[in-house]
Amino acid sequence: MKSFINKISRATKEYSVVVLFHEGDKIKTPLLSAAETEFVRGKISGKDNQVAVNQMDRWVFVQSIPGKYKGTRMLEELRKSANILHGQVVSQKIEKLAIEYSGKNMDVVLAFAEGLALSNYQFLKYFTKPDDKVYSLKEITLLGNSVARQEVDELNALVEAVYRTRDLINEPNSYLTATQLAREIQAMGQDSGFSVEVFEKNRIKSLKMGGLLAVNQGSVEPPTFSILEWKPANAVNKKPLVLVGKGIVYDSGGLSLKPTADSMDYMKSDMSGAAAVAGVFYALAKNKVPYHVVGLIPSTDNRPSGNAYAPGDVIAMYDGTTVEMLNADAEGRMILADALAYAKKYKPQLTMTIATLTGAAARAIGKFGIVSMGNASRKVMDEVKQSGENVYERLAEMPFWDEYAEMIRSEIADIQNIGGADAGAITAGKFLEHFTDYPFIHLDIAGVAFLKKGDSYRGKGGTGVGVRIFYDYIKTQAKQK
Ligand code: BES
Ligand code: MN
Ligand code: ZN
Repeated sequence: MKSFINKISRATKEYSVVVLFHEGDKIKTPLLSAAETEFVRGKISGKDNQVAVNQMDRWVFVQSIPGKYKGTRMLEELRKSANILHGQVVSQKIEKLAIEYSGKNMDVVLAFAEGLALSNYQFLKYFTKPDDKVYSLKEITLLGNSVARQEVDELNALVEAVYRTRDLINEPNSYLTATQLAREIQAMGQDSGFSVEVFEKNRIKSLKMGGLLAVNQGSVEPPTFSILEWKPANAVNKKPLVLVGKGIVYDSGGLSLKPTADSMDYMKSDMSGAAAVAGVFYALAKNKVPYHVVGLIPSTDNRPSGNAYAPGDVIAMYDGTTVEMLNADAEGRMILADALAYAKKYKPQLTMTIATLTGAAARAIGKFGIVSMGNASRKVMDEVKQSGENVYERLAEMPFWDEYAEMIRSEIADIQNIGGADAGAITAGKFLEHFTDYPFIHLDIAGVAFLKKGDSYRGKGGTGVGVRIFYDYIKTQAKQK
């Protein structure tokens, strides 16, 4: 398959071109006449930092990069500008767009290409006539030789990974059962090169994964537990990094049925953590990142039924811990707990969970970031946070004090699955921590995983949040060692 993002040395006429330049620098491009350059210069001062010139065969867009933003913030502004340009590109039915940049910071070009590519995502599978909806843009090309082929390929694989993650999230539960999710993960493994093992219901039963089985009790569909592994021969780490993703393919709340009018409408997205884990494995394998990573994905839907687990039930988890279940809607932690206990056998250097775990996380910080917490060393916590800044999947760190664990003590069992009205995101994290014996970081993506209204290049629906921060973190680690 031809890659979506490419590089060429000169733009022939079938390419429209966007010229990027830093505010204050001269606009110099062979594509514009002196008069056109003058016209652009006049328009681009002030608020307008994007100007379009309609030539005979093509469009030339000029994009100024405001000087007031630096570093990672500047790169984010570029992705967002690319999203705005994408609107123009598709309304003009442009198919091929080249990016021209004569500056020194190649991250500028990559960020702009990334913003364009992520903006071009669509989920059209269920339209009977998708053709008239399809975006025109078919190729993004980087002009010149400054960006290495390998970096272009890497970006392509990462964008593809985000696309596949979004597809999984946008798929309704009518298609994406736990079994189907496992199959999709296997397909992603085959397409990229990571290995996948799927435990089916019998195996899950014989392993006594009590949390996953309890949530699944009300379902007519069997649960799955998928184990992903990327272990290249040249891995630089001895102990693996483990990533655990919440794979609730539909969350009705179970017997503690979700109460308000629209609170169930998008709960097909409750497997966004699982999708992000699968997505990052896809990117790691495609790009052959020399790092050993294990992924664990417990999956089921959460439904009420005559047989559903009921508030008040006491459940024996995979590690033997007893849990008084007081709210069937706090199901994510029940299935993640078993995966976290299972993770112990890998003796991980670090385990990270990623989950649409609590409405409290969404209420705390909204759609602009990920709620994070953990007990890993300050150094590790900060490295992950830095990756969040790099890709703008930013972390807002909560306290993770031992005292919060007191809020999930039960009267009749070891712990209970809810902690009361306050600090809901943190008590959920503390519940998870109970099942760990290694450095642990938890990412709650409830606010950002699925956006009804959309947000720039993150798009409408599933955003794929998690893929880019994990990829950046792992790549950075692989380089450091
Ligand atoms: N999947 C939900 C959390 C969620 C809410 C994600 C909104 C995305 C958007 C989770 O399983 C849940 O229901 N959490 C409960 C926990 C409570 C019962 C302790 C919540 O946040 O209300
Ligand atoms: Mn729930
Ligand atoms: Zn849920």
